Amino acid sequence: MTRDPAAPPSPGPSSDAAPPSTPDAPAPAAQSVISKRPPWMRRLHAWLRKTPLNPYWLDMRHLDEAVRQLAPHASGLMFDVGVGERPYGAVFAPHVRRYLGLEYPPVVFGNLNPDLWNYIHVVHGIIDVFGDGHELPLRDASVDTVLSLEVLEHVPDPDRCVAETARVLRPGGRFLMTVPMVSPLHQLPFDFRRFTPNGLRELMERHGLEVEEVRPRGNVASAAGSVLSHYFLRHWAAKVRKHDGSVVMSRWRGVLTMPIVFLTQSLFFVAEKFAKDDALCLGYSVVARKR
Ligand SMILES: C[S@@+](CC[C@H](N)C(=O)[O-])C[C@H]1O[C@@H](n2cnc3c(N)ncnc32)[C@H](O)[C@@H]1O
Repeated sequence: MTRDPAAPPSPGPSSDAAPPSTPDAPAPAAQSVISKRPPWMRRLHAWLRKTPLNPYWLDMRHLDEAVRQLAPHASGLMFDVGVGERPYGAVFAPHVRRYLGLEYPPVVFGNLNPDLWNYIHVVHGIIDVFGDGHELPLRDASVDTVLSLEVLEHVPDPDRCVAETARVLRPGGRFLMTVPMVSPLHQLPFDFRRFTPNGLRELMERHGLEVEEVRPRGNVASAAGSVLSHYFLRHWAAKVRKHDGSVVMSRWRGVLTMPIVFLTQSLFFVAEKFAKDDALCLGYSVVARKR
């Protein structure tokens, strides 16, 4: 899924809505640089994001669950390629000795001054190194785990990125990754593709990674609920469509639409318990082991 879409003004994923819920979250001083909203509004916003009022609620629930299932497979030194805001730092912390995160400057910097990003992210320990997944700044066989959550759809050459992953993993080390399937375009222009389970298997095997598990995220009901929510968000509530694929909600249409989004997601949350078919789903997670 797309945890990343930028910034609707009310419930919905937002780059300034909520500080990352990890021990690595930026200090208060940095948060005041990130968001101009008063603390009570940030807290309300963060709470609303965790309810079915947020059109991304179904997607987020399933991604959170997928990541929690991946975490016990992590060990030793873990390198997160495309760490973003390190949203799952606390989930992996009990399983790894050290967690290093790489970010890709063209996506992160956007139109912002790179010095500001250096201050916020490097100083406050979210991003450890800037680089490119196509050319990892690591020695051969130097890490125990490579993590890549919702990243591979964003790189022009996934083959090369997986080859790099295989190069830096120690024999027996694991590649843990997720990709979306049913998901709106996001982080444009850096959204290049969607993967199928067989495509993922083939991609891993080609680079000497033995696939231990490919798991779908949700099922046909989760996908239907998510698509409907995105329809309400994007067709009914959106005021502005931004160049990166995200939308900004109109305040009053947003308020009118959110109860419908709430009911839709609640209904499909129940429906997915009965649905068996996962040929259509929200995404996939993979555990693969370096031979
Ligand atoms: C959808 S976000 C996911 C961020 C984070 N993994 C998460 O789960 O919140 C996709 C991430 O891929 C990163 N990315 C895009 N192209 C990349 C590249 N060539 N090398 C490394 N990371 C890249 C972006 O900077 C962005 O943080």
